[in-house]
Order: sequence, then structure tokens, then C-alpha cells
Amino acid sequence: MFKRILLKLSGEALQGHQGFGIDPKIIANMAKEIKELRELDVDVALVIGGGNIFRGLAASTLGMDRSTADYMGMLATVLNSLALQDSLEQIDVPTRVQSAIHLSELCEPYIRRKAVRHLEKGRVVIFAAGTGNPYFTTDTAAALRAMEIHADAIFKATKVDGVYDSDPEKNPKAKMFSKLTYKEVLTRDLKVMDSTATSLCMDNKMPIYVFNMTIHGNIKQILKGKKIGTVVEE
Ligand code: GTP
Repeated sequence: MFKRILLKLSGEALQGHQGFGIDPKIIANMAKEIKELRELDVDVALVIGGGNIFRGLAASTLGMDRSTADYMGMLATVLNSLALQDSLEQIDVPTRVQSAIHLSELCEPYIRRKAVRHLEKGRVVIFAAGTGNPYFTTDTAAALRAMEIHADAIFKATKVDGVYDSDPEKNPKAKMFSKLTYKEVLTRDLKVMDSTATSLCMDNKMPIYVFNMTIHGNIKQILKGKKIGTVVEE
């Protein structure tokens, strides 16, 4: 069912209980989980956020120029990408980082055809620095890269089980959806991903699987056809 996926991880998930930065245990666990996906012979591309280090939007609401704040956020995703590459390579998962902003001493530039070649060779590819443009989120980068590499779906990791009608951390009666259409996500403002990313997925019929990353093995179960979390499709 899935030959190639794009996994979108949140930067905030990396910070663990310390509330900032990268928790080595959490990143090592993520790497292990990704290795298991590779063992199923699924091509895995990754986009990781940067919210554990710097949140562009939050800084801009506090008065910083939005573009500057967003560029700083993009650099934060590069730090996370390099850390994840290191964790993956420590457990023998060949990984390439490609950045949308030129940082040639640190990683490869984003070259679509090269990324696809890496995937074909069984390497995990991490797309860093978002789309390289301010005003676009890492969710939008995930949607864009998923289209470009012809992924079968986007897997969006969260800390709750799926998409709910209200915040399950605030409302104990919140109801989880097992299935949604893109239109429902947009009209009900369900914030699965931002509206740019959701529209891009809608226009290009890219399914989005939203699942709980804190439960080990969830992605693997979805790949095997089990209904876990929420799927957003037509
Ligand atoms: P193949 O050509 O398919 O064998 O891929 P490869 O990635 O192994 O070969 P390549 O010679 O392109 O890269 C070798 C190593 O250098 C890899 O770890 C790449 O990620 C890295 N690399 C390639 N281009 C750049 C770059 O522009 N900057 C940096 N910092 N590293 C690069």
C-alpha cells in the first residue's frame, strides 16, 4: 500500500520534559522507529520542525520582523535535521540531509532528483530549512516535498491520537475523527496542518495520516493497513 512516505515530525516532540532543545533519548527512540520502517522496505523522507529551538511565528507576534523570525526558525530545523541524521547513522541507517537554504559546509542543497535517487538507494532523506521561504510552515514544506518525491502519503506525528473536534488536552469529551475530508479540515478549521499545506494536499490528492508518535509502533501498524489515528483524504 505504501512504497514511499513523508514523515513530518514536530520539533517540540524532541525537547521531551526538559522543555527546550533536543533530548538525546527521544531522538534515539525516533531513529529506532524510523529504522523499523526502513526494515519494511518503505522509502522514508522526513521533515522536522524547529519549535523546540525557535518558533518564528511566536517571535513575530512579539514584534520581530516576520521574515527574520521565519529564517531563524528554518535554521532551527537544520539543527534538528543534523541531530536526527546523527542518531540514524549511529544505528546504521544511511541518511542524507538536504537543505532548502544553502549551507554547503553542513549538508547537501535540496535537489529533487538527487533526493529521489537517495531514496531509491534505501537512504533516509531529511529535508531541512522548510521550503527556504519565510511565511511558509514546515507543514507546507512537508506537503510540497511529498508531492515532489511522489510520496504515497504524509504521516504527521502528533502527541495526541489523531484529529479531534476540540483540544483533547483541554476538553476530556473531545471526539476523535477516524476520517476527514480536506474540505472538512478547512471549513471546520481543524488545524491538522495549516491551510496552505492542507490546500496543497487537497489539490494534489495527497492523503495525510495523523497519528500519535508517543506510542511506539503506530506508523508501522498504519503501514500494515491498521486503522489508527485520523486519515485526511478526499
Ligand atoms: P551517490 O552519488 O548516490 O553515491 O550519493 P552519495 O550521497 O553517497 O554521494 P555524494 O558523493 O553526492 O556525497 C557523499 C557525501 O557527501 C554524502 O554524505 C553527502 O551527503 C555529502 N554531500 C554531498 N554534497 C554535499 C554538499 O554540497 N555539502 C555537504 N556538506 N555535503 C555534501
